[in-house]
Amino acid sequence: MINKDRLRERLLELAQIGGNATDGWTRLAFTKEDKLARGLVKGYMREMGLKITCDNAGNIIGSYGNPTNSPVIAMGSHIDTVPNGGMFDGALGVISALEVAQTIIENKLNVNYPLEVIIFANEEGSRFNNGLTGSRAICGSFSQEELQIEDNNGISFYQAVQEMDLNPDKVYEARAFENKYKHFLEIHIEQGIELEKEHKRIGLVNSAAGQVVLKCTIFGRPDHAGAIKMTQRKDALVEASKLITEIQQISLKMGGHFVATVGKLNVFPNSINTVPGNVEFFIDIRDISSDKLNRGIEVISNTISNISGEFSYFLEEVENELPAFFSSRLLDLGKEICEKKNYPYKVLSSGACHDAQVMTTITDSALFFIPSINGLSHCPEENVHWEDVFLGAEFLLEMVLNASE
Ligand code: GLV
Ligand code: MN
Ligand code: MN
Repeated sequence: MINKDRLRERLLELAQIGGNATDGWTRLAFTKEDKLARGLVKGYMREMGLKITCDNAGNIIGSYGNPTNSPVIAMGSHIDTVPNGGMFDGALGVISALEVAQTIIENKLNVNYPLEVIIFANEEGSRFNNGLTGSRAICGSFSQEELQIEDNNGISFYQAVQEMDLNPDKVYEARAFENKYKHFLEIHIEQGIELEKEHKRIGLVNSAAGQVVLKCTIFGRPDHAGAIKMTQRKDALVEASKLITEIQQISLKMGGHFVATVGKLNVFPNSINTVPGNVEFFIDIRDISSDKLNRGIEVISNTISNISGEFSYFLEEVENELPAFFSSRLLDLGKEICEKKNYPYKVLSSGACHDAQVMTTITDSALFFIPSINGLSHCPEENVHWEDVFLGAEFLLEMVLNASE
């Protein structure tokens, strides 16, 4: 029943902004590219007659029906990306949610609750090293201190929000009133290989891993790269490299769902002919189990604290997202729909973080996947089969219609 051509065309139109298939897509939160993408999706909302509000956390909310009369069924995802990412991460969920809402409106389908499509701001967190800020603001877990974080160019989160013509002093106003939502539903690409491997087309997600990001700074000494002998140096990057290798070994030993990644380093002064004086690196640590996550953090922190005596270090936590468990009621409904419609499905957990995970703190929330091709994601090669995109949107429509009964 959904309009497949419109769904595909909108995804392709959004992909015109901030990148291409060679370099990938870079729409970091609150940048010019993000602003352009936000304008485009607001245009779709206008076209379909949604009432548009934008809160001061940067979330764009398109509403249909009156939310003051009864709890809202919301759907959504994000349109910001990581640097050189793919065209479906987040975008798929946003455009599919809009398509579902438009199908309901155009066909006058019966939904007993007001609907919202939420485009969450800054899900990825690549720019300020703090993700999920839009959903956290809605759920009341955005901290005022985050406003002071600066990006690599020294622009603060506060300034970046201002540059979007929003008021950073009022981010807290984004918080949803109590019991505003009946359900939240998000569809996303899997970003892994489980569905494809088993030829399943819908992933019913039961849990999502927690994520803790540690920022580690190693203080060595900058020296002339020609004049100072190898034995006389305090090279912070060499020391950081040893720690990074140890972190990998620790994570392999932890096994299971436990993962730790160092994907971002800042080297100072970052000059080819100066021995690295200081290095900052970020350790992204995840597991489904809080206990195991905490154990891994402890082992990694202890390893860093045993750094060789010539160096000093500083370790701080910059992000902490708890593991989440999705609504079993919505999961059962998902199973029923898949069985009735003969959609091959699999119940699985998510290693990646999602806005739906944050939304579990205030409402009955569900997350669904469609297969990723070869599991590729956060890279230009991220891809899906269009037939799965259409099936995912049909499934989301069924979920909304059934959840509203
Ligand atoms: C979001 O993509 C994440 O980092 O899990
Ligand atoms: Mn995403
Ligand atoms: Mn992502």
